[in-house]
Amino acid sequence: GLQEKLSNHSGKLYFGSCADPNTLNIANNVNVLKSDFGCVTPENSMKWDATEPNRGSFSYGNADTLVNWATSNGKLIRGHTLVWHSQLPGWVSNINDQTTLRSVIENHISNLAGRYAGKLYAVRTWDVCNEIFEENGSLRSSVFQRVLGESFVTIAFQAARKADSKAVLYINDYNLDSVNAKVNGMISLVNRVNAATPNTIDGIGTQMHLQGGQGSTAQAVLTALAGATVKEVAITELDIAGAPAQDYNQVVQACVNTPKCVGITVWGVSDTNSWRSNTSPLLFDGSYRPKAAYNTIIGAL
Ligand code: XIL
Repeated sequence: GLQEKLSNHSGKLYFGSCADPNTLNIANNVNVLKSDFGCVTPENSMKWDATEPNRGSFSYGNADTLVNWATSNGKLIRGHTLVWHSQLPGWVSNINDQTTLRSVIENHISNLAGRYAGKLYAVRTWDVCNEIFEENGSLRSSVFQRVLGESFVTIAFQAARKADSKAVLYINDYNLDSVNAKVNGMISLVNRVNAATPNTIDGIGTQMHLQGGQGSTAQAVLTALAGATVKEVAITELDIAGAPAQDYNQVVQACVNTPKCVGITVWGVSDTNSWRSNTSPLLFDGSYRPKAAYNTIIGAL
């Protein structure tokens, strides 16, 4: 399968997909995950609304199912995600003072990242901060930015490091799809944070929810992101409307050709389970059969 081809071509790289109990219940989907993928990202089960719906009360049912599946099938896990303005319960959004919010962030991260720390080293990576930028490269308005300013980034990364000292800690975002203001804002923030407190942010993730034609700029973006003070970069949520073979191949090759790029994750296996299902953006059709883009990627490796 794809993971085997990629490993033979370039030993360091993983090929991943999002998954969760709802897709791990589908036999065809599981067969493809087993044959073609080496890493999984929980699509929803580790988000704040799923794991701490009420303050101090944690629920790990779906996340545990995903982690147990990955562990028993020898798959890496990208933990996703610790601090994000979306899928965030109202009780967090309503916090107004710094001391409370800081301790709420630290407690959330220590519980969630602590729970899976050292799980056979299956948790390779955490997306610590997700989608924190505006398109112009400034910080997005959120309860985190409003109450704590930029300091929430360092607070979150330090809490994640404390909870899981082995995990590689990422900042992740979307629309980093050409060398634009958002890419430059990302690079500036990462360099600023790591200059003030070395070894805080380990990696930059680019989601890459793309339209056809955008594969051609993937290489320039990965090269730019890899120029920041990080150890690695990754493609974290790839899907491309219409799944054009050329764009998919350009994205995969861009990672292969970027020394700091460690892996590619697509945001689902089959079009039928995609969050963008009406655009047929994935590598397998509604019957879990490989599409043209899959064959092109494999053929080029
Ligand atoms: C999406 C999931 O795929 C959907 O099931 C859910 O309803 C909304 O979130 N950026 C991210 C992912 O970081 O967590 C999002 O996943 C897609 C956009």
